[in-house]
Amino acid sequence: MVDLLDFDYGPLRGLIGTWEGAKGMDISPEPDGVEENPFYETIVFEPAGDVENAETRTLTIVRYHQVVSRKSNDKVFHDQVGYWLWDAEESLVMQTLTIPRAVCVVAGGVYHGESEPGAVTLKVRAAQGDPDWGVVESPFMRDNARTLAFEHELRLQGDRLCYSELTRLEIYGRSFDHTDTNELTRR
Ligand code: HEM
Repeated sequence: MVDLLDFDYGPLRGLIGTWEGAKGMDISPEPDGVEENPFYETIVFEPAGDVENAETRTLTIVRYHQVVSRKSNDKVFHDQVGYWLWDAEESLVMQTLTIPRAVCVVAGGVYHGESEPGAVTLKVRAAQGDPDWGVVESPFMRDNARTLAFEHELRLQGDRLCYSELTRLEIYGRSFDHTDTNELTRR
């Protein structure tokens, strides 16, 4: 039987596992201002083997599921599924994600190697109108809560994972920087 852990996941290898963190902070839009939501979350990253595209390009795949709960009431208020993908030939890292608001993102960025031994930084971005990396959403979201751009930086060292995410929205008649950050440890 094939062991999915035997594939070469490049810089994504260290993600595989279950991560928990309770230092999360979400800044999100309200009609008349800003909402700040301290949160905790679990992210499960699983090895998913590889895929060959157009018979020429092999990508290795890490699948993830992120579940985020508000500290104030313990309710899940963000659920996200997706993949991280590694293209070794182009040194390219990609994140494809969907959130249950009818929004999907295909983000990418070049991987520049470890910043110091064992320290992996993954940076991906996407934006409306970008020729390479984009956002697709339902007509309602396009017209009322449009995602203009997405930037994600994830730093991984051993059993510690930090991320910061910026989702630029057009909502309530203005542009709003919706941000999320957290620090997690491997369970
Ligand atoms: C830890 C990650 C995230 C958390 C905790 C979070 C949480 C929130 C919260 C609390 C709101 C305010 C609206 C409401 O109360 O329902 C919101 C709005 C929104 N978020 Fe996020 N979010 C996260 C990541 C993302 C990502 C990655 C995207 C898209 C790429 C996204 C897209 C949106 C959009 C489009 C809205 C506006 C929806 C509306 O208010 O009608 N969010 N988010």
